[in-house]
Amino acid sequence: MAILETGSIYKRVPLIERYRNFLPVTDSTPIVSLLEGFTPMIRTDRIAQEISDNITMYVKFEGMNPTGSFKDRGMTMAISKAVEVGSRATICASTGNTAASAAAYSARAGLVCAVILPRGAVAIGKVSQSMMHGAKVLAIDGNFDDALRITREISEKYPITLVNSLNPYRIEGQKTGAFEICDDLGHAPTYHAIPVGNAGNITAYWAGYKAYYAAGLIDRLPVMLGFQAAKSAPIVDGHPIEKPETVATAIRIGNPASWKQAEAARDESGGLIEKVTDEEITEAQLMLAQTEGIFCEPASAASVAGVIKKAKEGFFKEKCEVVCILTGHGLKDPDRAIKIAPPFIELPADTDIVAKEMGLK
Ligand code: F0G
Repeated sequence: MAILETGSIYKRVPLIERYRNFLPVTDSTPIVSLLEGFTPMIRTDRIAQEISDNITMYVKFEGMNPTGSFKDRGMTMAISKAVEVGSRATICASTGNTAASAAAYSARAGLVCAVILPRGAVAIGKVSQSMMHGAKVLAIDGNFDDALRITREISEKYPITLVNSLNPYRIEGQKTGAFEICDDLGHAPTYHAIPVGNAGNITAYWAGYKAYYAAGLIDRLPVMLGFQAAKSAPIVDGHPIEKPETVATAIRIGNPASWKQAEAARDESGGLIEKVTDEEITEAQLMLAQTEGIFCEPASAASVAGVIKKAKEGFFKEKCEVVCILTGHGLKDPDRAIKIAPPFIELPADTDIVAKEMGLK
């Protein structure tokens, strides 16, 4: 698995430098990087023990990327390629994370950035990022699917680079998540669990595993397990959802752009795409936070919720390794966290009263 030179593991290098041989860049591609990637893959034994005798479980915490989500892997590629061809402006539709990442990388590259968001349906941490990085934030009266339609139409009509995952460089960059998993484990996991929204990420991971397999760096491919939120599950239901709903606003999407590619990843890997309810998502998010110390956003917890659900059904019949992608950081959506976590207690500034409340007196 010798993609890394000895010693280089201690150096942070741009993701594109690290996996240059697998990416469509040349010596003349200007690399726009915030030192993304290289995210921790954390073994979660306490959850694994609770749900199955057969699982060794890891979570890859993509919330540790520079803007707090996996989008940075694709954005370093998309923005670098935009600069290479002389683009001056970028645009994306977003449930929040793509926008935050596009805004940050565009700022770093000196590009103008516009983000089209579904009004009232984006977590506050993500909105604050886009605003802070100086993007033009346009909140429309419509959902993500409307925002994506408008974004496509604008990018076709005006000289502005679309940086949604329809941009092939986004997928190219996001493949690196699979490379890192294989580099960390020394092989591919048995199962790869992932939330599915616009379906770019499952597409990218599958392409990444296939690229490593073709290069002879792994000798088997994982089975892909995708999870959609129950009321935003067009791929599972087999038709677009007009009014998708879920507490996991990041994956509140009714007509995914990479629908067919997600189905291909599922079918080629012998995997599945299924639903998890908002209750299951919330339970998994709390469990990660309270038994493993890992705070991810609701959409991310869909991967773990899915694995818990499948374990309860007896799906994992033999010893296996499961990697769950935690796509974004919990601080992205503090409103939701405060709603579901145990409440805090307000007290006067008095030692005895505090001690009593703690059960010490
Ligand atoms: N998890 C998080 C935290 C996300 O932000 C997204 C997508 C997904 C999962 C699903 O990934 O779309 O590749 O299937 N967020 C996009 C956005 C839609 O605009 O930030 P996907």
